[in-house]
Amino acid sequence: MIPRLGFGTWGLTTEAELMVDSALKLGYRLIDTASAYANEREVGKALATSGVPRWQLTICTKFPVEFAGKEWEVLDFSLVSLQLEYLDVWLLHAPMPARELVRTLEVMREARAVGHVRRLGVSNFSIQQLDWVKRSLGFYPDLNQSFFPLGSTLSTTIDSHRRRGIVPMAHSPFHEQNRLLTAHSEPKVHETILSAYLRAEVPVVFGSRSPAHLATNLEVFRRLTKSR
Ligand SMILES: NC(=O)c1ccc[n+]([C@@H]2O[C@H](COP(=O)([O-])OP(=O)(O)OC[C@H]3O[C@@H](n4cnc5c(N)ncnc54)[C@H](OP(=O)(O)O)[C@@H]3O)[C@@H](O)[C@H]2O)c1
Repeated sequence: MIPRLGFGTWGLTTEAELMVDSALKLGYRLIDTASAYANEREVGKALATSGVPRWQLTICTKFPVEFAGKEWEVLDFSLVSLQLEYLDVWLLHAPMPARELVRTLEVMREARAVGHVRRLGVSNFSIQQLDWVKRSLGFYPDLNQSFFPLGSTLSTTIDSHRRRGIVPMAHSPFHEQNRLLTAHSEPKVHETILSAYLRAEVPVVFGSRSPAHLATNLEVFRRLTKSR
């Protein structure tokens, strides 16, 4: 089961270790990184010293499209940097041209088959692109991490993923587009946004450089979960 609320590390460099450590101490169990964030080593140090049992963690990283053809090397680098024996989620970071896409996803599928990866996913794919993957490779990815805007389209988007057996995971919940939608509810805009994703039962990863925001977001989430 993928935790509903995760901590994303985009933009964090040396401070990633401290922030992931704080997140784990507070109780976060889903951590999102990427090869492109160049912080897997720092994330790995925090994971290794946290004392949190491996089975409780969901660690997600992403394969950078510009490294097509070097999937095994990149996977090895991610595993070594993160100090893990397997990834819970390995995502293709973005859509790419058809030929490379097929080849890369085939290698990623092999990595899942041999146990280096639990869930094989993609990121920033439309439903049309997901259907193209199914037609071309015969399978759907396990997960699609994207910006799923709040509002009238959210439930349709989520249903479209679920009908295909794909877990939707939302990134960037506090994106300007969502903030505009919920602007009337200031100063509780972050709480309003997180609760909307919770109601839609979509795992969501947010970013922060503030331990205080890590704590308040988790508190919001726990309060909402309890009251359901
Ligand atoms: N797959 C992809 O292509 C992709 C793309 C983008 C992002 N992501 C993932 O999604 C994660 C989140 O994305 P993001 O960081 O761009 O956007 P975000 O989570 O929507 O927004 C981050 C901003 O929200 C603020 N914030 C968080 N909690 C707050 C609170 N309680 N009160 C006030 N401000 C709050 C943070 O400020 P403070 O620092 O002050 O807390 C930060 O400026 C990334 O770290 C990454 O893991 C993935």
